[in-house]
Amino acid sequence: MPDGAAPVLDVKDLKTVFKTRAGEIHAVNSVSFDLRPGELLGVVGESGSGKSVTMMSLIGLLPTPPAEIRAGQVVFKDQNLLSIDETGLRDIRGKRIGFVFQDPMTSLNPVFNVGFQIGEPLRKHMGLSKSAARTRAVELLELVGIPDARRRLNDYPHQFSGGMRQRVMIAIALACDPEVLIADEPTTALDVTIQAQILDLVKELREKLGMAIIWITHDLGVIAGIADRVLVMYAGQVVEQAPVQELFANPQHPYTRSLLKTIPTVSGERAQRLQVIEGQPPILTASPTACPFLPRCAHHFDRCAAENPARRPVAPGHDAACFWDPTTGAPR
Ligand SMILES: Nc1ncnc2c1ncn2[C@@H]1O[C@H](COP(=O)(O)OP(=O)(O)O)[C@@H](O)[C@H]1O
Ligand SMILES: [Mg+2]
Repeated sequence: MPDGAAPVLDVKDLKTVFKTRAGEIHAVNSVSFDLRPGELLGVVGESGSGKSVTMMSLIGLLPTPPAEIRAGQVVFKDQNLLSIDETGLRDIRGKRIGFVFQDPMTSLNPVFNVGFQIGEPLRKHMGLSKSAARTRAVELLELVGIPDARRRLNDYPHQFSGGMRQRVMIAIALACDPEVLIADEPTTALDVTIQAQILDLVKELREKLGMAIIWITHDLGVIAGIADRVLVMYAGQVVEQAPVQELFANPQHPYTRSLLKTIPTVSGERAQRLQVIEGQPPILTASPTACPFLPRCAHHFDRCAAENPARRPVAPGHDAACFWDPTTGAPR
C-alpha cells in the first residue's frame, strides 16, 4: 500500500440525518476518511454508532426520506458520488463497489437458485450471455471455496449453511471485479469457527484480487487479525483513526481504550468478556456541541462539556478526537 497513492475513496464531512416524527436524528456527523488502494480498512464501534448509515450514504442506498444527506463529499476515483444521479450510481453499485451485508438470508432471493443470482450482475453490468455468466458463476463459487461448485449452482439459498450463504454473497459482490468491497458485519451472525474461515477467505481474496476493502464490525478483536488501518466510530463520528498495530499499542481515545478491554480473551475453552462499557451511547437529536462520550468518560474536563473535540494528529498516521492525553493524564 503506497502511502502517497491517491485514495480510491475519499469521504469528507459527511452528514446524514433522519427526519422522524419526533424530530431529527443526526446519525452521521461530519465523518471524514479515505480508503487507499488495496488496503483493508476496519470500521468499529458499538451498535448504533453510524457505521451502516455512513456506508449506505456513500452509495445512495438510504431511502430519502426519511434519510437526508445534508453535507459532504464522497469522491470515488474522480467522481463525487453525492452529486451523480441514480442511474450513474446504479452503474457503480455492484460493479465497481461491491457489498456484503450481515444477513445473507435477507439479501439473497429465496426463489432463485444461486447460479442465477451470481449471474445477474454479470449479465446486467458486464453484458455476459446466460451461458457465459454460468461459467463465470462456477469460477466464482470455486474462488470463494464452495465445493462441488457446478452442481451447487442449481441450489437455492436455504440449501446452504450460514457460512456457505455468506460465501455466496461474497461471490456476488466480487462478480464484476470491483475496486472496492464494503463488508458490513458479514460474519456477525456466524459461529466463531465459520467466522474465522470467512476472515481467512477474505484475506486470501484480497491478496489474489487486490481490491480495497472496508470491513465493518462491532468487534475490535475481528479487526486485529485482518485490518491495515482502523476507524473507531462513536455517536456518528470517527473518534480515532490509526494503523492497526498503532491503535492496539497506543490507543488514545477513552472509548477505544474501553473497546479494547471488551475483547474476549480465550482461557481454556471459554472466551470471556472482560468488561462492558458502562452507560449508553447518546441519542443524537442535534449535532453534538459537547464531546458525545462525556457521560461515559472517566477522564473528562470542563472543556469537554463546552466543545466537541475535533480529530487531530497524535502520532504519524494516527489521530484522535479527545482533549485528554493518556500519557500524561492531563489535558492536551
Ligand atoms: N430509518 C431510520 N430512522 C431513524 N433513525 C435511524 C434510521 N436508521 C438508522 N437510524 C439512526 O442511525 C443511527 C446509526 O445507525 P447505524 O448506522 O445502523 O449503526 P451501526 O451500523 O453502527 O450499528 C442509529 O442509532 C439510529 O439512531
Ligand atoms: Mg450496522
